[in-house]
Amino acid sequence: MARAELVENLNKALSLELAGVIQYSQHSYLVTGTDREVYKKWFRDQAEEAQDHAEVLGDKIVALGGIPGVEPAMIRQSIDLKEMLKQDLELEREAIAIYMAAWASCDDNDLPQKFWLEGQISDEQMHIEELEKLTSERTAKVNSERIILREVS
Ligand SMILES: [Fe+2]
Repeated sequence: MARAELVENLNKALSLELAGVIQYSQHSYLVTGTDREVYKKWFRDQAEEAQDHAEVLGDKIVALGGIPGVEPAMIRQSIDLKEMLKQDLELEREAIAIYMAAWASCDDNDLPQKFWLEGQISDEQMHIEELEKLTSERTAKVNSERIILREVS
């Protein structure tokens, strides 16, 4: 039944969001050096957003007749900032995959759930793009022939 599969997928997404709350929070505690000035708040903001997403999922699962789970997914730990960002990117990629699986498990005519999930998928994609930039996996592609260098006189 599509509804049961949807609830199961939403529960997997919930476990990833709960892991996000813990993982981003721990990264905010552990980040040290001058990076701490920026990344303590950045990680805490991400933890808050994961918490917001978890709450929406919990409410939605109940609205669909399910029981929200209480177990977080695997939590990745590091004391190295670059490693933390890679770990967070992996978590966000897992999350978008399960949100897309949830979308695919909706009945074709269940447009309200599909539209809601599309908003979630769009949010997750923005996180992924930002983390890909922070880990330098995503950069602007520059066509060297088009670069106009100014001569310094
Ligand atoms: Fe999320």
